[in-house]
Amino acid sequence: MNKQNLTSRNVKEFNFLAKYYDSSIFSWFFKNSYKKVKKQLGDIQGKNILSIACGTGTLEINLARLNSNAKIVGFDLSQEMLRIAQEKIGDLKNIQFSEGNVENLPFPDQSFDKIVCVHAFHHFSDSEKALKEMQRVLVANGTLLIFDAVKETFLGKLFIFIVENFIEPGVKHFSKEEWMKLLQESGYKNVEIQKVNSFHAFFMGTKI
Ligand SMILES: C[S@@+](CC[C@H](N)C(=O)[O-])C[C@H]1O[C@@H](n2cnc3c(N)ncnc32)[C@H](O)[C@@H]1O
Repeated sequence: MNKQNLTSRNVKEFNFLAKYYDSSIFSWFFKNSYKKVKKQLGDIQGKNILSIACGTGTLEINLARLNSNAKIVGFDLSQEMLRIAQEKIGDLKNIQFSEGNVENLPFPDQSFDKIVCVHAFHHFSDSEKALKEMQRVLVANGTLLIFDAVKETFLGKLFIFIVENFIEPGVKHFSKEEWMKLLQESGYKNVEIQKVNSFHAFFMGTKI
């Protein structure tokens, strides 16, 4: 599938899924990973945080509630996902949502201290461009934290084979070695990969 087709499929797919997303089995399953992501993000008080492909904003709103001095921006391609996220904000003042494609972020250089991207990187049609855009909007020494599936264990590889061939053709997952290369070649130092379970890992780097 070419890049443009994958992006327009993502818009259609996630605009359609948005109204079911928070009550789906995925949402229940994803909540468990948000706990791990919050722990891994560490102290974010006083920081500017960008969450790429935030979906309906569950993790982001929780981060904003727990860290009143942090500024959180949730970014996503799907207008419908963001509409639901916006409805859930209530009276929170330290969070906002923005719509667009990760390959062309509408933020100035060096805008964010930390960037997080959860359960979404495999959907991006141009992985290098996405990583370089995230690098551009990070401050010097700012950090990137990605949570996604990794081609590592037998179970992980089987899961990815099923997803890539039968469930969502066109999505892309990488091995640990491929992740290392991608991050290092996109302007990140201190690149680290931390296995979370048989399927998932954290992929981390600091802006050079
Ligand atoms: C599986 S959902 C994950 C959402 C959220 N991070 C979570 O943990 O529930 C994937 C999200 O990626 C978004 N997405 C896909 N391609 C994108 C792109 N090129 N730029 C920005 N967001 C994108 C989709 O709209 C969708 O909301």
